[in-house]
Amino acid sequence: TSAPVLAIDGPGGAGKGTISRLVAERLGWHLLDSGALYRLTALAAGKHGVALDDEPGLASVAAALDVVFVADVETTRILLEGQDATATIRTEQVGDAASRVAALSAVRDSLLSRQRDFRKPPGLVADGRDMGTVVFTDAPLKIFLTASAEERARRRQLQLREAGVNASLSSLLKEIQARDARDMQRSVAPLKPADDAITLDTTRLTIPEVVDRLTELLTERG
Ligand code: C5P
Repeated sequence: TSAPVLAIDGPGGAGKGTISRLVAERLGWHLLDSGALYRLTALAAGKHGVALDDEPGLASVAAALDVVFVADVETTRILLEGQDATATIRTEQVGDAASRVAALSAVRDSLLSRQRDFRKPPGLVADGRDMGTVVFTDAPLKIFLTASAEERARRRQLQLREAGVNASLSSLLKEIQARDARDMQRSVAPLKPADDAITLDTTRLTIPEVVDRLTELLTERG
């Protein structure tokens, strides 16, 4: 289809999830949380006893993923094989496993058409690492959303604190840096801005400021 896509890529913790959801809400567009698909693949692999280095096995798990996204007021509830996985997939452990399975090209291939199916009128906000470089290369607007690693660690800490979890800033920073390195250095679909992406550093920006800027840019490109 030719529905417009706003591709939002960038490292973890840059605020892509929140920003993408708010922009999609404001525009009345669909939302793709592609990271959730990699997280769900890792989680489903665990459930079915498929090892994190079994590429063909993981590709099958990804292809057969039984997932339902239920749009709710503030969040989207995610059902994996009928069971609520909304909170489980956000743990650091699943995130780490996700970035390992995401480095495998057979897994990425398995998830390609599922991601492209989200593109429907009136439009799609696509959140991930390779939305602009691989999945939606013809997106009319591509944004690379970043923030300093320190700021991202601080935001993650706040997020965790709200969920009642205490984590040290230094351990979060280490985790973020390790995840960044793995996402940027992998040979398939490495994390990098598309040639035609606009980079937006959100270190000193509030969430409403970023949302406003993105809607402005979209209107300009309209
Ligand atoms: O964005 P999120 O933290 O949920 O993504 C989890 C992991 O999935 C990332 O660290 C990355 O390795 C992988 N991912 C990816 N491509 C995407 C989205 C996520 O490789 N489009």
